[in-house]
Amino acid sequence: MKPCSLVECVAANSEDIDEYYTSIHRIGGADGFRWDESINGWLGTSHSTCVDLLNCQNLGKNRLALPLDVAKDLVEAAQHILNDQMMVMDGAGHDARRKRWMPILRSCAPQSSAIAKIAVDSMPVGPVDVRLEDIYAAYLQPYASRVISYMLGLTELERVSLFPFITAYVRFLDGKLSSEKEFLEAMYAVVYLYDQLSKKSFEDVPEGYRRESWLADMLLMLIAGHESTAYLLGTALIQGRRCLQKGLERAQIRQVVQEALRFDSPVQLIGRVVKDDVTLHGKHLRRNEKVFIHIGAANRDPNAFENAGDFVLRRQRAGTTLYFGAGPSACPGQSIAAQSAQVFLDTLLQANRWLDVDIAAVRRRSGIAGRGFACIPAMTVHLWSEGASANENS
Ligand code: HEM
Repeated sequence: MKPCSLVECVAANSEDIDEYYTSIHRIGGADGFRWDESINGWLGTSHSTCVDLLNCQNLGKNRLALPLDVAKDLVEAAQHILNDQMMVMDGAGHDARRKRWMPILRSCAPQSSAIAKIAVDSMPVGPVDVRLEDIYAAYLQPYASRVISYMLGLTELERVSLFPFITAYVRFLDGKLSSEKEFLEAMYAVVYLYDQLSKKSFEDVPEGYRRESWLADMLLMLIAGHESTAYLLGTALIQGRRCLQKGLERAQIRQVVQEALRFDSPVQLIGRVVKDDVTLHGKHLRRNEKVFIHIGAANRDPNAFENAGDFVLRRQRAGTTLYFGAGPSACPGQSIAAQSAQVFLDTLLQANRWLDVDIAAVRRRSGIAGRGFACIPAMTVHLWSEGASANENS
């Protein structure tokens, strides 16, 4: 039976990307906008609907109201921290917080080169049958994690000890939790991570920021760039493989990253709430109703992108991509995410290496809001044999 709701689409198509997007467009219908019972809210799936929803002044962010029937104290504490993060805020307070972060987010780009070099140098290059390893866990997640942790001033030891808690929190945000136990683990992770960050002596709390709010946003920065950037790199390596066969040049790496973001967007769903009644694309949206903007489906809308299901480096007449959102809440970490991904791929190419993925063995772990990999088996290969030039072999 074909899936009838977003939750069913995600569950039914965990590995088949094309069918996943096709089925989401199918449930979105011709309008690309409908009420979806499984998420108890409006769901926008077409590119034009998503653009209008992202720009709609009558929609705003929503504070979280978590179930408090089990482990009330823990969940309340986590909810308090989550509701002090910029992701649930709008207006002047939200904008002021973002402004404080922008110089910090810009400052860490140069460091990603050194971090990428260490990762690439540690990759074993060897015979086909013995060197297959899960590169997602071995290189991509640690790389994304190190770039952000460095920016926040965490040591490698601190990063490694916090990593399992970061993963638990990311699963919650991505909508990947499948049991009450996992939910409580995620709540514990939020409180634990906040507690650990508060023990570090961050003396430079910017003016106008409460220390508690600064820590809450620091926690958001820590987790926001983990799975998303690692997933982007995974897609770039899997799809970039075909480009490599045609001879991938360093100048094209930026295009690989941008197309990977569009082709299978790491963040799929953006949530909003109706602040004032409004009619959009023929639907009457009432105050306090939830609205979910499926930017993943919008980026694969055939009405906005020619051959939307193909990985194409030089796109002619492409619509606006929405992979980082749009407007005042668009991802503030977008340049660090895109740049660090480019740096990683560039470092691989410069070292004459690529990660050759065993596509049939790739396993995903996706939620309704965010994509993820369970494992990417691959081996490190030389792009061209020593002594030969890249051009001779491309
Ligand atoms: C490929 C990687 C990434 C993707 C695809 C991505 C995508 C997104 C999207 C779609 C949003 C929601 C925008 C909205 O609500 O309208 C968002 C928000 C956010 N992202 Fe990212 N992101 C990535 C990496 C990062 C990194 C590396 C950081 C920080 C270092 C970061 C920090 C944030 C923050 C703080 C927000 C909340 C912004 C706000 O509410 O104003 N993201 N991101």
